[in-house]
Amino acid sequence: MTLPREVREDFPLFARRPEIVYLDSAATSQKPRAVLDAMRRFYETSNANVRRGIHRLGEEATEALEEAREAVRPFVRARSAQEVVFTRGTTESINLVAQGWAAPRLRPGDEIVATELEHHSNLLPWQRAANEAGATLRLVPVSAAGELRPIDVERLVGPRTRLVAFSHASNVLGAILPAARIARAARDRGAAVLIDAAQTVPHLPVDVQELGCDFLAFSAHKMLGPTGIGVLWARRERLEEMEPLLLGGGMVREVGEDRSTWLDPPWRLEAGTPPIAEAVGLRAAIEYLEALGMDAVRAHDRELVSHAVERLAAVTGLRLHGVCRARSAHRRPELHGSRRAPARRLDVPGSARHLRTRGQSLRPTAHAPAGRVRHSARQPAGVQRPRRRRRARPRPGGSAIRSRPVTV
Ligand SMILES: Cc1ncc(COP(=O)(O)O)c(C=O)c1O
Repeated sequence: MTLPREVREDFPLFARRPEIVYLDSAATSQKPRAVLDAMRRFYETSNANVRRGIHRLGEEATEALEEAREAVRPFVRARSAQEVVFTRGTTESINLVAQGWAAPRLRPGDEIVATELEHHSNLLPWQRAANEAGATLRLVPVSAAGELRPIDVERLVGPRTRLVAFSHASNVLGAILPAARIARAARDRGAAVLIDAAQTVPHLPVDVQELGCDFLAFSAHKMLGPTGIGVLWARRERLEEMEPLLLGGGMVREVGEDRSTWLDPPWRLEAGTPPIAEAVGLRAAIEYLEALGMDAVRAHDRELVSHAVERLAAVTGLRLHGVCRARSAHRRPELHGSRRAPARRLDVPGSARHLRTRGQSLRPTAHAPAGRVRHSARQPAGVQRPRRRRRARPRPGGSAIRSRPVTV
């Protein structure tokens, strides 16, 4: 493999739990010691609030936050650190664009284009913005093989399209979309472009100039960093156009009795105490990934996928989708069969239990609108799930979900 096996030793969780092979980084990654140490060091040596205290600790904390912003800049090839807004994660970044930029601009009859591959976080905010404005949300279809053709995006983008929003890589299929081509087509037709890069910033070099987008969203926790912080990168002119969703401390220039003025972006969009230690952790994660080299990370992912595909191809009854075309580390193969059979074959007790008890399904369009959604979030412990009537009746001689794809 491209990355040495010793990399595993950088992760304290694996030292404590050596039996674990973790394959759920698309949901959240484990954290290397460098990230944990940086956050601990911040709390032990420089902890204070930012942009308000005039004491030394306050200055150090502000410096730490701004240094983290500066670390993001070259990582995604932004022109300026001032194009980097800290949010709580990809979801918040997308909502900020939907409510702070799109909603005030949308008019009845306008259109937003997304795809059937989208995570809920890149679908629901557009649904709401479109519904509230009397605009239309159009979804680019995904083929039965789970592929999305750029030509279909180009066909859907028309003169009324204000924004095209799509995932750089699907969290279900792992297919990497030809983002630069899609972005160019959208911009040529006068539409702005948002790329949900939650699944690519952690896995490959991302260059916002090359992509040609207006907005890019990602989360620290999927790229070895902490939870609670993410990034919205946006072109300077787009940031200038954005309305802050939150008003409060840290974003104000002057406060009057009836009116106040706000700081320039990005600070205008970061009201309240930001995730300071988390920003320090994000910076450490970026430095860790840069030391590995994003090209090496990408090459390693590809090798892992090739290895997985090779081994999975030998499993009877398993069909792989689109594997030969696009590749990334988080592709999930689809198993066809009864609810019980694939689970028994799995060598991962946790996953097997999950499949057995829930008949879990993840599909290319799992996050697409009603009719296709099989499963969303897990109910938090202790919260009563309302009883639902079963829709599908078991067919004679088999389980109700027999013909449905089950994906692990
Ligand atoms: C493609 C994609 N977009 C958005 C999100 C949401 O990220 P977060 O929960 O960190 O806001 C995820 C999380 O899995 C994702 O995979």
